[in-house]
Amino acid sequence: MWEYTDKVKEFFLKPKNIGEIEHPDGVGDVGSIVCGDALKLTLKVDKETNRILDAKSQTFGCASAIASSSALTELIKGKTIDEALQVSNQDIAEFLGGLPQEKMHCSVMGREALEAAVADYRGIPKEVEEEGKLLCKCFNVTEEKIRKVAIENHLTTVDEITDFTKAGGGCGDCKADIEAILADIWSLKVPEKPVKPKKLTNLQKIALIQEVLEREVRPVLQADGGDIELIDIEGSKVVIALRGMCTGCLMSDVTIGSVQNKLRELVSEEIVVEAQ
Ligand code: FES
Repeated sequence: MWEYTDKVKEFFLKPKNIGEIEHPDGVGDVGSIVCGDALKLTLKVDKETNRILDAKSQTFGCASAIASSSALTELIKGKTIDEALQVSNQDIAEFLGGLPQEKMHCSVMGREALEAAVADYRGIPKEVEEEGKLLCKCFNVTEEKIRKVAIENHLTTVDEITDFTKAGGGCGDCKADIEAILADIWSLKVPEKPVKPKKLTNLQKIALIQEVLEREVRPVLQADGGDIELIDIEGSKVVIALRGMCTGCLMSDVTIGSVQNKLRELVSEEIVVEAQ
């Protein structure tokens, strides 16, 4: 039996913003009933301000999947699209007072639905999954997703990957491949979860920004053929340039938002990232 927090129970028993918005401006449809969890997120957006006026979710899954998607709608309503994209799967779990480790995949599904709904709102066509990239056939999980979730959540073991993506939790045939991906990602150094220091001098702040970009951001972008270059730091403004596949990418502002999010999490809440 899972240990759920009171907030998870509340959001499961009386979920908020349930259903589908009529004529939505963005739809994110993720997961699959065959795999056990599915979530459809619909958004109503003010096109002048890009502010999310309403968000509703329809979820098939367990108590934590329903609570996570309901929490997501509460977290993003009233935010602009760019602000909403700062909401990570960890934010969803934290909003609920935590999720059982084995249920973290529910928060990941919420984040995925958000990305998909924003991409739909922005008119970005759905990526067609390449057959060769599908790593876990039992749960339809791609290698790219495993890399992204591992880096974003500092996951180092196959069991953790299973908790966060379900990959490896079926027949087990993909476990060796997951192990190889983790070895590849963390081949230089097993990640220590960085702790945000309390007070930094300017020099320490610059060094920490460089370290976070090198250790936390570049591996994620390079896994997709992209890259990032630090151009300048002026006070709390960090100027970067996206390189490789990230250059001119339709999702570049999503990438910049994620970089800003990471620097705010690990360096300072005041950081603003701008692209050159
Ligand atoms: S292929 Fe991943 S668990 Fe079966």
